[in-house]
Amino acid sequence: QGGIPVIAIDGPSASGKGTVAARVAAALGFHLLDSGALYRLTAVAAIKAGVALDDEAALTQIAAGLDVRFADGATWLAGEEVSDAMRSEAASVGASKVAVFGGVRAALLGRQRAFRQAPGLVGDGRDMGSVVFPDAALKVFLTASVEIRAERRYKQLIEKGVSANLESLSQDLRERDERDRNRAHAPLVQLPDALLLDTSSMSADAAVRFVLDAWRERNPQ
Ligand code: CDP
Ligand code: CDP
Repeated sequence: QGGIPVIAIDGPSASGKGTVAARVAAALGFHLLDSGALYRLTAVAAIKAGVALDDEAALTQIAAGLDVRFADGATWLAGEEVSDAMRSEAASVGASKVAVFGGVRAALLGRQRAFRQAPGLVGDGRDMGSVVFPDAALKVFLTASVEIRAERRYKQLIEKGVSANLESLSQDLRERDERDRNRAHAPLVQLPDALLLDTSSMSADAAVRFVLDAWRERNPQ
């Protein structure tokens, strides 16, 4: 798998990683790994099983045994569709709680690396460039101010018809960022070899162009 190129896109919540990663992958014909989905699914499975979100041993077992199926843009967990449940605010907060544990992270590592298939992979998350694919051909640190990120998330929810409160969303975002940045295992960091892309006043289109240009500069046809 070593020779298969990876584009690693890491950054805080609602910076646009998922949007940019999906569009870059589509443009290049690459596979896509939404690594956050695995932490979200671990949280959803734990909540369903009545497992406390601070019980590392039980959470590690759940992460190792996740029975997931991704198909046609939908996600099933043990045969039950969880596409909406995994995007809920409870799953977002839960994901960042289970993600602090080294056991959980280790249990999800092989599953993430299995996405590295020809002709290439775009992975988005917090530790794509630092831990999962340290040999990534291109690493991007995608960010935006916390105010802009909270507004983006708010707009996304409202457009989906989900009621949301900007204040509590913003608070959740800050707490989650802090947990992601300060944990002992695979914290969110801006790597010295990552390109910094601050999209606070940049459209998603422009962010996609930036990543594709950086990729093509490194891989001239
Ligand atoms: O994956 P992540 O949580 O980092 O963010 P996302 O769900 O991809 O993006 C959050 C929202 O911001 C989406 O509705 C995007 O359309 C919007 N957006 C963006 O991704 N990039 C910009 N430069 C501007 C807006
Ligand atoms: O879309 P958003 O950026 O809000 O979240 P996500 O990428 O789906 O990730 C949800 C949570 O999973 C994050 O807050 C992190 O705590 C955790 N996560 C992680 O620890 N490592 C990753 N590679 C991806 C997500």
